[in-house]
Amino acid sequence: NIEFKVEQLLSKMTLEEKIGQMNQYNGFWDVTGPTPSSGDAAKKYEHLRKGYVGSMLNVKGVQEVRAVQKIAVEETRLGIPLIIGFDVIHGYKTLSPIPLAEAASWDLEAIKKSAEIAALEASAAGINWTFAPMVDISRDARWGRVMEGAGEDPYLGSKIAKARVMGFQGDDLSKPNTIAACAKHWAGYGFAESGRDYNTVDVGTSTLNNIIFPPFKATVDAGVKTFMNSFNELNGIPATGNAYLQREVLKDKWDFKGFVVSDWGSMVEMINHGYVENKKQAAEVSANAGSDMDMESYAYVSELANLVNEGKVSEALIDDAVTRILRVKFELGLFDDPYKYCDENREKEVTGSKEIHEAVLDVAKKSIVLLKNENNMLPLKKKGQKIAVIGTLANDKTSPLGSWRIGADDNTAVSVLEGMQKYPDNQIHYAKGADLVTGEASFPFELKINTTDKSDFPKAINTAKNADVVVMVLGEHGFQSGEARSRTNIGLPGVQQELLEAVYAVNKNIVLVLNNGRPLAISWADANIPAIVEAWQLGTQNGNAIAQVLYGDYNPSGKLPMTFPRNVGQLPMYYNYKNTGRPAANEPNSVFWSHFIDEANTPLYPFGHGLSYTSFTYSNLSISKISNNQVEVSVHLKNTGKFKGKEVAQLYIRDLFASVTRPVKELKGFDLVELEPNESKTVKFTLTKKELGFYNNEGDFVIETGTFTVFVGGSSYTSLEENFVL
Ligand code: IFM
Repeated sequence: NIEFKVEQLLSKMTLEEKIGQMNQYNGFWDVTGPTPSSGDAAKKYEHLRKGYVGSMLNVKGVQEVRAVQKIAVEETRLGIPLIIGFDVIHGYKTLSPIPLAEAASWDLEAIKKSAEIAALEASAAGINWTFAPMVDISRDARWGRVMEGAGEDPYLGSKIAKARVMGFQGDDLSKPNTIAACAKHWAGYGFAESGRDYNTVDVGTSTLNNIIFPPFKATVDAGVKTFMNSFNELNGIPATGNAYLQREVLKDKWDFKGFVVSDWGSMVEMINHGYVENKKQAAEVSANAGSDMDMESYAYVSELANLVNEGKVSEALIDDAVTRILRVKFELGLFDDPYKYCDENREKEVTGSKEIHEAVLDVAKKSIVLLKNENNMLPLKKKGQKIAVIGTLANDKTSPLGSWRIGADDNTAVSVLEGMQKYPDNQIHYAKGADLVTGEASFPFELKINTTDKSDFPKAINTAKNADVVVMVLGEHGFQSGEARSRTNIGLPGVQQELLEAVYAVNKNIVLVLNNGRPLAISWADANIPAIVEAWQLGTQNGNAIAQVLYGDYNPSGKLPMTFPRNVGQLPMYYNYKNTGRPAANEPNSVFWSHFIDEANTPLYPFGHGLSYTSFTYSNLSISKISNNQVEVSVHLKNTGKFKGKEVAQLYIRDLFASVTRPVKELKGFDLVELEPNESKTVKFTLTKKELGFYNNEGDFVIETGTFTVFVGGSSYTSLEENFVL
C-alpha cells in the first residue's frame, strides 16, 4: 500500500534528497532551446539533475513536461517524479467563467463539471496539480482576487469548494484525467484591509471560525490533497510561518494528510513583514510551522540542511513533510508511470474539444445574473429588429477571458458581437464608442485606462439613434481584477460612464451587459437603464452565452454570490452583518444611529439577487421541529410566469439572542428548482446542528436554545419569514 511504499522510499533518501522534495521551482527551461548554462536557469537545471527539486510550476504542454520529468526520473539517483503544478483556475486553454461568475450559478453540478473539464484539458497538457480552488471568503469588492473565489458567504462557499475539489480530483486521483487540487490561501487572504492585495489581516476568532475557515474545512472533508498558505499576516503572524494555522488547525485538528505549499516567495517575504531577519530564519520558521514545500523562496534548498544539522529543525519534521509530498505523488500514480500525463495524441485530441466547449458554454449561461428587467425588455425579439451593439467590450475577444488565464491565448473568446450575429433575422450595427485601455495591455504590466479619448462617441451615438434596442457591453478589462489588481473606484472605468450617458441621451432602450471581475458600483445605471445583465467574464464562450440569454434561448437563473454596493464607501459590505445597538432611526430626524449621512445602508443589489424571464412566488412556509438538533422547513414554490425557468430557493436563519451576537441573516440552505409555467413544488430544507450552531469566542462549536427566525425566498432581501423556538 501507499503508506508502506512512502516509508520504504523515505528510508532510502539522503537529507538533501528529502529537502529536494520540499523545493518547487518555476519553469525555467525552454525545452526547444539549448540546455541552460548560466544564471538562475543553470542553477535550477543543476538542482533538478541532482534530485533537489520535487515540483515545478508553470511548465506546460506535454513536450515541456516530458523534458523536465525525464531529467527527474532518468538522471537523479532515486528517480522520483516531479509533481507539476499550474494555476488552472477556470480552465486551462479553453476557459470557463471566472470562479466568481460560476458561483453565481449556485449550480453545484455545473461547477463540478467545469472543474472536471479543466482537469481533463490540463492533465492532457502534462499538468497534474492545480493551485485551485481559491476558497477565500471576501466581503470587499475592491480586492482584485474576488474574481477567483466564490464570493462572500461561507455556506455557499463551502458547497462550491467541495464541488470544485471533487471536480478536479474525481473519484480516483490515479486516473490520467484527474489532477490534485489545492485549497488556498490558508488563511484570511480575502480579509486584506481596504481590499488592498497582500495587506494586513486582523480578525477575531469568531470571524476565523465562522466565516473564513468553513470552506477550507469543506475541502479537507472532500479529500483535497494540498493546501497553499498565504502572503498575508494573520493577527501578527505571517500565514507561512503560522503554526496555529498549519499545524494546530489544519494538520492536527482537521487531520489533513496532504501537504502545504507556500505561496510564491512567501517564506522570504516574512522578512518584509518584520517577522524573521533573513532567509535562514525564514526557512526555520516555515518548516517548523508546517509549510511543507517552498515555492520560489529558495529558502529550503539553501538553508534547511544546515538548520537540521544545527538542531533547529528536526529531521522528523522533514520526514513528515516529505511523507506528505510523496503520498500525493503515489496517489497520482506518478511512480507507476511518470509520463502518464505526457501523451501527445491525447493532448491533441482533448485540447479545445467539442465536449470541453459545450461544457464551458453550459456553465457560462448558468453564471449570468439578470439584475434588472423593467417592462420585460428582455428577452429580445429574434426578428425584424435593428439592434445597435455598442461598447468598449462589445467586440472584445480577450477581456472576457478574465484574469488567471496563463494557458489560454489572447483573442480566443467569442465576443458579444459575434454571439449576437448568430441570430440572422435582426440587423446588427456595431460601434465601439471608445477604447477601455490605451496601448498594449498585457499582464503583468499596469493598464493604461483611457480617461480622455472620446473621439468615437459620435459614431456610437449615431448608431444608437436609429436602433430599436441598444445592447451596450461595458465593464472591466480582464486584467483589472485578479492578483495585485485592487481598485479604489469600482464604477465603470475610464470614459464608459460618459459613453453610457451619451448613448442614453439619444436612445433609452438600452440593455446594459456587464463584463467584469468584481461587483461594480453602478447606481446611475440602475436608476436609468431598463435592463442590466451581469455577465462577468464568462471565458471562451462568453459571447455565445450572452446572446443566448439576451434572446431567451436560455432563461437566466444566476443569483449574486456577492453584494453589489451603491458606493465604494460602503465597503466592506455583506448581507450577513451584525445588527449593532442602533440599527435604525428611532424617531423622525434622528441622527444617532448606525448609518451614513450621504448614502443608504442598503446595497444596490443584495447577495442572492437575480431575476428570471418568468416569475416565482413563495407561499406556505412551514416549520416543524423534530428535535433540538433537527428542524424541517418547507415552502411552496410556483412558477407564475410564462417561461420555463429555474429558481434558487434560499433559506436563511437568524439566531435572535445568543451568547455571542449572531448575524441578521445566515444562508443555511438552497435548492435550484426548475419549473414549467404554472408548475409548483414543495421545497424542503433540513436544519441540523451544523446549520443551527456556531463557533463561540473560545472556538467551540455550540448550539444554543432560543428563538430563531427562518427566512425563505429568492434573495437575501425578499422572503417569507417565521419564528421557531429551539
Ligand atoms: O497560485 C498562485 C497564488 O494564488 C498566488 N501567487 C502565485 C501562485 C502560483 O502562481
